[in-house]
Amino acid sequence: MKILVTGGAGYIGSHTCVELLQNGYEVIVVDNLCNSKEESLRRVQEITGKSLSFYKVDLLDRDHLDEVFSKHSIQAVVHFAGFKSMGESVSIPLKYFHNNVSGTLILLEVMKKYNIHNFVFSSSAGVYGDVKIVPIPEKAPLGVLNPYSRTKLMIEDILRDLYIAEQAWNIAILRYFNPVGAHPSGKIGEDPNDIPNNLTPYVAQVAIGRRPFVRVWGNDYPTPDGTGIRDYIHIMDLAAGHIKALEKLERNLGLVTYNLGTGRGYSVLEVITAFEKACQQKIPYKIMDRRPGDAAISYADPTKANLELNWYAKRTLEDMCIDTWLWQSQNPCGYP
Ligand code: UD1
Repeated sequence: MKILVTGGAGYIGSHTCVELLQNGYEVIVVDNLCNSKEESLRRVQEITGKSLSFYKVDLLDRDHLDEVFSKHSIQAVVHFAGFKSMGESVSIPLKYFHNNVSGTLILLEVMKKYNIHNFVFSSSAGVYGDVKIVPIPEKAPLGVLNPYSRTKLMIEDILRDLYIAEQAWNIAILRYFNPVGAHPSGKIGEDPNDIPNNLTPYVAQVAIGRRPFVRVWGNDYPTPDGTGIRDYIHIMDLAAGHIKALEKLERNLGLVTYNLGTGRGYSVLEVITAFEKACQQKIPYKIMDRRPGDAAISYADPTKANLELNWYAKRTLEDMCIDTWLWQSQNPCGYP
């Protein structure tokens, strides 16, 4: 089965390509490389011993995207491509709406033209906005706190309307919690362009000596140690969720929405301690003021994905830290 992966050179995309190839799928990647490097795809092929096709194409470039569809008999699309910096989206919202929403619309239109209706969408726990109750089930109220998350919610809404109008579509919306870790080979991993916003890449850069200390955003939250609690999920577990979603779509089951999380939360200080164990060194940190827009506690109720997809997050926080450290120590400055 031929799968088109948009944003396949990125962090989640590249790990999902490994899983797809290892599960016997043929993979075609389109990526404009604005926030990723082609080297990740070379390494995906090295890890799997299998080849994939790559096109440096922007989703906003309808003609070139159309050409890719005309060359391959694609059967399903896994859609990762999009800007993902929450902070940047607050200062440049139009950039986010244009790229993420318009890019998706063009992709869906081209799919429709070629009569392809199987679609897996990379959404985010950000669509739950200001979390009131944990664990968060899929039916929790939706609402967003920033333009980045709004693009995810807008695309979800577009997909729901599309399915109501045209039931030929098979759509899986996957709401990711906090993806961390790397492939256990240490060959591919998260390679942020600038100063990392997310916790684990920042911790990893402190461990490797690129930054002096971790800034812990607040220790006065109503949590046992006062720091924020999140549902960190190993990137390979997350990648495996996409295979399960594709298998579900092959059985033609309409529009489905799943949380991909472990169902358990860890605090910032617990993550730092686990990372210290993995890299066998002290990680200096300083307590700072809270970061605006951060929730105190967020973790998934993953029961629906467990039961309906037979998908379970298997890897532990320890695995996440060991694999992140292997990637970071083997690639101190990311991809060459
Ligand atoms: C963030 C994004 C979310 C996105 C997700 C992708 C925000 C508000 N949300 O989620 O939209 O889908 O990443 O993984 O940016 N922390 C520190 N120091 C740091 C970095 C983080 O103490 O240098 C803390 C945060 O306050 C939070 C936890 O670590 O309690 C996790 O933060 P982060 O990795 O940025 O993820 P989220 O904020 O949950």
